[in-house]
This record gives sequence, C-alpha cells and structure tokens, in this order.
Amino acid sequence: MLSIVTYPDKFLKTTAKSIINVDGTTQELIGQMEIIMLQAKGVGLAAIQVGIDQSLLVYDIEQEQKLSNLRVLINPKILGKEGETLSKNEGCLSVPDFRADVKRSAKIFVEALDRHGNPLQFEADGIKAVVLQHEIDHLNGILFIDHISSLKRGLYKRKVKKQLKKTR
Ligand code: NI
Repeated sequence: MLSIVTYPDKFLKTTAKSIINVDGTTQELIGQMEIIMLQAKGVGLAAIQVGIDQSLLVYDIEQEQKLSNLRVLINPKILGKEGETLSKNEGCLSVPDFRADVKRSAKIFVEALDRHGNPLQFEADGIKAVVLQHEIDHLNGILFIDHISSLKRGLYKRKVKKQLKKTR
C-alpha cells in the first residue's frame, strides 16, 4: 500500500514522467490514490506525493468524501493563465501542520487526459483553478511553500527540523 510522502523528503522535488499507456497499472494507481485522498480528507493528491514519479493527479473540490466526486487528470499541462488571486490558508497533505496564503492565477486553461486516456481541454477558475495549480506544481517538483517568502518558509523548516529531532 502506498502512503503520503511528507516534507522534507527529497522525492517531493521529483519531476513526474508522462504516462505513455493508460493501462491496468494506471487504474490500480488511481484506485489507491483515491482511497488515500479520501482517508486523508484532501482536496487533491498528485502521484509524486505517494512516491510515484508519474504524471497523474486526483482531485475533489466538492469535499463530500464521495468516491464518485473524484476527478482524475493524467499528464496535465497548464496552457494558459489569466489574472491573479490570493489563495488563503493553502495547505498540503505533504506539508503537515502549516498553512499560508499563496498568489495563484485566477483562471487557467488545462490540457490533460481523463482516467481512461481520453484527451481533455478545459478552463478552470475559483477553487478548482487553485487546486489544479497546486497539484500540477507537485508533478513539477514544486511545493506551495516554494511560492511563499523565504522568511515564512524558514520558520516552517525550523519547526520541522525540531520535530524530526524529537522523534529520533
Ligand atoms: Ni499538496
């Protein structure tokens, strides 16, 4: 069973590889990620976060903890961005016990494959745009704390170091 990789694990800096064949292995990975995300009550989860370097993410902006609400994107790419928005109190399953405001684009234009490998193109705004920018960042080895000031990031890093010392 897969589990969530957390900061400061270096794997989170990995760039995901495109999925060439959407096959049974992909479906198995999707199934496992859906379970992990529901258990963790997350809004989004990228494969990188469960230690798999494949370009795949699941997300759920309804937040009703229903399997049928989960959406899957394979090989997602942001083709265009528009405007700016402040994502308040953004958090991440891989960055426990920390939240921060992050500047994001207000609207994005996304190209991807759906869970069956069919091509998709769509526009997203609001919370959906924020969640997808966050998750697509993961697939490029970027965390939301990479978007905040080095001062705030430093505070979090020190806190994590202290906690790691305690558990050793
Ligand atoms: Ni995240």
